[in-house]
Amino acid sequence: MAEIDQIQQETGIMLDSKRIPKHIAIIMDGNGRWATQRGLPRVMGHMQGYETVRKVVRACGELGVNCLTLYTFSTENWRRPKEETDAIMGLIETATREELPELMENNVRLRVSGCMAELSESLQQALMESIQATSGNTGLVLNLAINYGGRMEILRATREICRRVLAGDLRPEDVTEESFSSFLYTAELPDPDLLIRTAGELRVSNFLLWQIAYAEIWVTQTLWPDFTEKDLVCAIADYQGRVRKFGSVPSADR
Ligand code: IPE
Ligand code: IPE
Ligand code: MG
Repeated sequence: MAEIDQIQQETGIMLDSKRIPKHIAIIMDGNGRWATQRGLPRVMGHMQGYETVRKVVRACGELGVNCLTLYTFSTENWRRPKEETDAIMGLIETATREELPELMENNVRLRVSGCMAELSESLQQALMESIQATSGNTGLVLNLAINYGGRMEILRATREICRRVLAGDLRPEDVTEESFSSFLYTAELPDPDLLIRTAGELRVSNFLLWQIAYAEIWVTQTLWPDFTEKDLVCAIADYQGRVRKFGSVPSADR
């Protein structure tokens, strides 16, 4: 907690420990721009972005966040040059293997949202091993969205529901918001309270389309490789200042 305490002292921001978002989702954008600005190949931006991931995972654990979902690779990111997608996949695999001791030490449970079957055998294996090894951990849930697309996730759930209805195992009237959610990759996770996007774009880029219905959105111009624990504290402080209405009228205004 030392680092977070120091940030709070430096900035004068005091977070309310009782109102830490349970689930934070992050669109980690701007790796390419970070590298290009420095005349470096884009992959160097992804490598630097990995360092930010390490910092943010640690900080979320310290802050008592229950779940952190990181948009790591979208279904549309395959449209990038093969050289770049190969490099990103290689980096995810290296990181998965390298970070296992740290995940264990920090009591982090790893899970993945997205179509794993389309990843290389060795990446699938690395992920499965870490998911298995960390399955008993009770601290932060680190949910990596890899080969993830919100529309594809909703279609996949819909197809499975259709199959069950046709098989006579499910009645259409029993398909509710809750039961539909249970067919998504994020099944046992609460919806994100706070959605962070770095690098300034004002769009959701096919991320958690169903789950972010009432997420509070916080966008920063800061590029992901430059994002720090201080930015995270600022995002949470901003979140804590928001009035979440969920379509209703706050009791004070009634
Ligand atoms: C995000 O950074 C990482 C991935 C999408 C994998 P980008 O690579 O999209 O960075 P920019 O948007 O080109 O700067
Ligand atoms: C979203 O970023 C995907 C990830 C961060 C993994 P993109 O860079 O792919 O999004 P667009 O293309 O700018 O919408
Ligand atoms: Mg981008």
